[in-house]
Amino acid sequence: MSDQQAAAAPDVATLTIGILGGTGDQGRGLARRLALAGNPVIIGSRSAERAVAAAQDLGADLGIRGMANPAAAAAADVVIVAVPWEGHGDLLRSLAATLAGKIVIDCVNPLGFDQRGCYPLPVAEGSAAQQAAAVLPGSVVVGAFHHVSAVLLLDPEVASVDLDVLVLGDDRSATDLVQALAARIPGVRGVYAGRLRNCGQIEALTANLVSINRRYKAHAGLRITDV
Ligand SMILES: NC(=O)c1ccc[n+]([C@@H]2O[C@H](COP(=O)([O-])OP(=O)(O)OC[C@H]3O[C@@H](n4cnc5c(N)ncnc54)[C@H](OP(=O)(O)O)[C@@H]3O)[C@@H](O)[C@H]2O)c1
Repeated sequence: MSDQQAAAAPDVATLTIGILGGTGDQGRGLARRLALAGNPVIIGSRSAERAVAAAQDLGADLGIRGMANPAAAAAADVVIVAVPWEGHGDLLRSLAATLAGKIVIDCVNPLGFDQRGCYPLPVAEGSAAQQAAAVLPGSVVVGAFHHVSAVLLLDPEVASVDLDVLVLGDDRSATDLVQALAARIPGVRGVYAGRLRNCGQIEALTANLVSINRRYKAHAGLRITDV
């Protein structure tokens, strides 16, 4: 990526980030890293009490707040969706009015597991991110953070998270913003990877990474070359 592109990155340092389902591993991991970077962060949950407890567990020094999902969505500038695929559509449908006018980052991977391992589930809309766009007509949906290991995000021994975050969406200013947000995590680079209609294979690719992780006992990530 050129210096010119980096210099043009939007200033995201003061944006308040809300995380729906932020009590899970992925949500807490992203909350921790973005709070360490200096962003105000709000963990959301179906239970305000669980959200407050998760925020406190991450460390009072980080200043992370916890709220019920609707309050977190309302108070945030940018909202990350980090719930399991099973709850994705219903939760977003219930928050459509609150999320209108906001950038919504979807990191949800619709995956199944059986005796042969992990595999991508069929999604009627094409991908979880496209389902989000369908139920949130007033929001700008961006797909990102699908391949980031929550284990690495949460590990205090891991100073630098070594991977590219693939960022997908139909709105250039929104994908630029999410690339800049990803880059606030040490070691991470945000790389534009296409329009939202190309998010299905990005979500499905997570099944391959899970297979790699199981075979090699790793927390594998992706790097894009020559960019
Ligand atoms: N774990 C990873 O390394 C990783 C990496 C990349 C992407 N992702 C994606 O990130 C998402 C979250 O992953 P995770 O491992 O953190 O999942 P998780 O722990 O199973 O779930 C996250 C949170 O979602 C809430 N939740 C559970 N069922 C729900 C439902 N039916 N409706 C609404 N909320 C519900 C729960 O919070 P409350 O009970 O407090 O509401 C839970 O703590 C997944 O879609 C996954 O594909 C995960």
